[in-house]
Amino acid sequence: MKALARANNIADLRALARRRLPRPIFDYIDGGADDELTLRRNSSAFADYELIPDVLTDVSNIRTETRLFGQEVRWPLMLSPTGLNRMFHPDAELAVARAAARHGLLYGLSTLGTTRIEELAKEFAGPKVFQIYVFKDRGLTAEFVARCKESGFHGLALTVDTPVAGNRERDRVNGLSLPPRLTLKSFMSFALHPGWSLPALTGSKFDFANVSHKVDALASGPMSLFDYIGGQFDRSLTWRDVEWLASEWGGPLAIKGVMTPEDAKHAIASGATGVMISNHGGRQLDSAPAPIDQVAAIRDVLGDGPDVICDGGVRRGADVVKALALGATACSIGRPYLYGLAAGGEAGVDRALSLLLEELERTMILAGINDISGIRARHVRSRGSRR
Ligand code: FNR
Repeated sequence: MKALARANNIADLRALARRRLPRPIFDYIDGGADDELTLRRNSSAFADYELIPDVLTDVSNIRTETRLFGQEVRWPLMLSPTGLNRMFHPDAELAVARAAARHGLLYGLSTLGTTRIEELAKEFAGPKVFQIYVFKDRGLTAEFVARCKESGFHGLALTVDTPVAGNRERDRVNGLSLPPRLTLKSFMSFALHPGWSLPALTGSKFDFANVSHKVDALASGPMSLFDYIGGQFDRSLTWRDVEWLASEWGGPLAIKGVMTPEDAKHAIASGATGVMISNHGGRQLDSAPAPIDQVAAIRDVLGDGPDVICDGGVRRGADVVKALALGATACSIGRPYLYGLAAGGEAGVDRALSLLLEELERTMILAGINDISGIRARHVRSRGSRR
């Protein structure tokens, strides 16, 4: 697709996605909570760090391989779990996973995805993580763990920043419901966006593939996302539940949504093998700090062993180098690949990943870094600390 080839960066893919999607669907991807302070800050915070280059270090060969969740990955990036991918493109999660496989990257499937655990595993042999929530019905959580073991998933990411849905005002204004309601307005936006398939989403075809068999409420008609989330997740969750999940699973486990060194220590003490520093891409607690600003302090208390993943706001390959210099094992992205998915399915996700990889490699070459493992704290400086 010519338009994809002409996209020079993630911002261009976002512009393409905006053109292709009905407004409520684009806003669902693009938006954040309340005043979107954290959403904006997640990305703009990267600009507060400078890269300090070495020169004359022989950058004729660049090595980007690393390990994440105990798996070999070709470069230090993971695809964060995101729900409802079928709303963005009919090829949904499988398109994303296939592009991830081509790049040798770790793929995260969301509990609220629209592709079943078993189907994803059948189509995707690469390294994969299932994002799990602890539901009020612990049996459902235990069932997920068993299905992930059976399907050969390599890790779990437990999301802990969603005891209640964030206040996504764009969704309220747009009246976004699940399944999407076929109204005159939504029919018109469908007619204006022939590349996007509302009929594939409405009625019985719409499916939270992995939880539908337990979520009766969805069968009884459209409901708001807020009602759905409010009704299903267990707000009484504590670190003891992490201990329970870690022993039930027995493999690599990251806690997604950790923002402080203290909670990072709790996570490891409770049996997790890593943390995803994340504020859910600015979709939950507005005014939460940017993940990049928390990386150094969290790595400091955890030492070298655990995976520390910086999740949120990454829009350039250079952002990955900054995060690694501050102590992250890898970065993780949500919207950048979703913009690609909406813009052009699997080819669009592939374009997003190729752009980020090119930028990462070029940044490494220009900074005189020939191996990911050679990125050091001295390669980054906070502009704040310079003043
Ligand atoms: C998400 N995210 C998310 N996280 C999660 O744990 N479970 C989920 O189902 C979802 N769903 C979801 C949908 C959409 C449309 C978006 C944009 C995000 C959060 C996601 O995993 C990740 O933390 C952020 O997307 C990272 O921020 P960036 O890369 O989007 O800035």
